[in-house]
Amino acid sequence: MKAHITLHKEFSIGETDKRIFGSFIEHLGRAVYSGIYEPGHPCADGAGFRNDVADLVKELDVSVIRYPGGNFVSGYNWEDGVGPVEKRPIRLDVAWGTKESNRFGANEFAAWAKKVNAQVMMAVNLGTRDARAAGNFVEYCNFPNDTYYSDLRRSHGIGEPHGIKLWCLGNEMDGPWQICSRTAEEYGRVAVEAAKIMKWTDPSIELAACGSSHFRMPCFGDWESTVLDHVYDYADYISLHTYFANRENDVPNFLGRSLEMDCFIKTAAGICDLVKAKKNSKKTINLSFDEWNVWYHSNETDKKIEKWTEAPPLLEDIYTMADALAAGCMLITLLKNADRVKIACLAQLVNVIAPIMTEKSGGAWRQTIFYPFLDASRYGRGTVLRCPVKVDKYDSKEYCDIPYLDAVGVHVAEKNEINIFAVNRNLNEAINLEAEIAGFGEMNLVEHRVLCNSDLNAVNSAAGEKVKPVVWQGGTIEGKAGSQRLDASLPPASWNLIKLS
Ligand code: AHR
Repeated sequence: MKAHITLHKEFSIGETDKRIFGSFIEHLGRAVYSGIYEPGHPCADGAGFRNDVADLVKELDVSVIRYPGGNFVSGYNWEDGVGPVEKRPIRLDVAWGTKESNRFGANEFAAWAKKVNAQVMMAVNLGTRDARAAGNFVEYCNFPNDTYYSDLRRSHGIGEPHGIKLWCLGNEMDGPWQICSRTAEEYGRVAVEAAKIMKWTDPSIELAACGSSHFRMPCFGDWESTVLDHVYDYADYISLHTYFANRENDVPNFLGRSLEMDCFIKTAAGICDLVKAKKNSKKTINLSFDEWNVWYHSNETDKKIEKWTEAPPLLEDIYTMADALAAGCMLITLLKNADRVKIACLAQLVNVIAPIMTEKSGGAWRQTIFYPFLDASRYGRGTVLRCPVKVDKYDSKEYCDIPYLDAVGVHVAEKNEINIFAVNRNLNEAINLEAEIAGFGEMNLVEHRVLCNSDLNAVNSAAGEKVKPVVWQGGTIEGKAGSQRLDASLPPASWNLIKLS
């Protein structure tokens, strides 16, 4: 099968905000306990943070990490997780049916985020709690001194403020599964009042308001519009969440789901602009895609997990080759919408629907989805180029006109590089890609790296990696500076990174 793309220096979508290479750690399952934090583990540092896990997080160059939830946050008292550990209460986490020891809290998370060079995106509880508690949390984290909450932080041994710049106004507040979910009107009211106290406490922070929990929520559209009517002047972003499933093992359909994600983004951006127009505002609300991933493998196992235990192995999806392709399509979709998506979090980061898995007291290893994220995070920071694709299309059970090739290019001006990310959705045939490279200085083909496996159900494990990138030979580039042609063969069902310099 043949495909043609054009990358022209003058035709760009926008700059990638590095925060689109973010992730998420929730107090859920083994994400924190025996994930990032395991005192006594042979790889743990003095604070109990696992160095083997921290090294993998650093390898991914994760820019921002959302915390502490997720559904968990809607029942969370942030005060439970600060101060002397021996005085911290054990609580029931009714969102996930577990016990929370609170041995790890906001200060530990801020220290860990610093260790892995990531920015913190902190969520406040707008389920069981109110605007005042949210404001107090900002004061505790960000106010220098001489007030009750800033001095409380100092009394906990944290002299300098954390300076957390990014905050979420609750989590999935439209979802019936959420502790104290709300109507759009109710949420809009509490969100704006929380936002006022939070921003008046620290005007340098940015806020993400909850959008609908997913594209197919019946309230989608009305929810965003009502919430933004209330919070427009104080919020900076509206959130989007999406999880893909492949329950019927229909991979062509599964790989079409990113078309829906693209539509979700464009529709949400349109609604933000509708409210902007209604308010005659100069301010643009951008998008925070702060939960995205594949999630379904663990659904049945999770039903059998004993309730009210501490850090049980919940949501431990083991990802296949097909899942890595779906994750690759999602990353390409985020890049293609770089003009509006400014934050995105792969949900989650360790053990819970995660690219990184750990064994308690044992090793840490990379899932299949680790690799597309790694490539995009390392090589996707620059100017995203418009990438018109000419290729055959197919229809699946739920979607029409799915292009067999999904692709995008990123120009990294300071390094004089172009990086092309591409998924071949054709499960049986290679794609002979012809790329027109126009308007750049002379480019050489540096490397073509491919993630593929003829078994789409192949998985990685602690014992080894069946799915990992390999260097692909055979690509060529010809022509003169300003007008070159790249030819490369993309194997069936593959994720590709083609590096030009
Ligand atoms: O990431 C797992 C869960 O998915 C989060 O807690 C929630 O926000 C979403 O429904």
